[in-house]
Amino acid sequence: MGGVVSAAASGATGIGQDTEALIRARQARMRQEVLLAKLHDEARLHASQEWDKENGESQPAAAPPAASKPKKKKKTEKPPDKAAKAPETTAKDAPAAASAPAEPADTARGATLFKAKCAACHTCNEGGPSKQGPNLYSIIGAQTAHDKAYKYTKAMSSFNSTWTEETMLSFLAKPKEVVKGTSMAFPGFKKEKDRVDVVAYLSTLK
Ligand code: HEC
Repeated sequence: MGGVVSAAASGATGIGQDTEALIRARQARMRQEVLLAKLHDEARLHASQEWDKENGESQPAAAPPAASKPKKKKKTEKPPDKAAKAPETTAKDAPAAASAPAEPADTARGATLFKAKCAACHTCNEGGPSKQGPNLYSIIGAQTAHDKAYKYTKAMSSFNSTWTEETMLSFLAKPKEVVKGTSMAFPGFKKEKDRVDVVAYLSTLK
């Protein structure tokens, strides 16, 4: 009990001394921190200067190949990278995912292909006129031979299916094999990417 009392009695003056001591300690710590910070900065500077020296010493010898390597890498590594990464890293984990990201449908490219390969015979704007072939606005999801004003061949009008993305993809691969007897004089897209992109574009026409 005596200890508590004496501590309480000296409390009034003790606090003043404590706060002074605390302030001094804080100031000392501040100075230390500032010094430490300076030291750290200097150490960092020295370290980086040393790195610079090391790199600088080795750079003249390594510079010519180092300068030519990135150029070669940029030109040659990019395409093989994609080709190599797909089977190596993703084929094991997800075979389906390996082909899906490899060819995300490019609707802009599909639009360009449509203009080049289809637009001679098809309009695709809403309410557009028939040409040699019918208007193809909103064709994905429509019944085959969807345009009642258009005179289809028997082959097409009796095909009796729906233009899903799947049926369209196979039709655009070999139109005359899928709809035997069709008058559509288009040989088909050999490249799957072309079919995928055009079908993606057709899907946007809604
Ligand atoms: C040389 C002209 C020509 C070209 C090029 C052509 N088509 Fe056609 N297309 C036709 C004709 C003609 C028909 C009607 C076929 C029939 O009645 O048998 C048709 C029909 C279609 C149909 C069926 C429409 C329906 O209402 O069921 C689709 C879909 C189609 N074409 C898509 C395309 C796409 C996509 C392209 C481009 C990749 C294309 N066509 C290129 C002439 C063409």
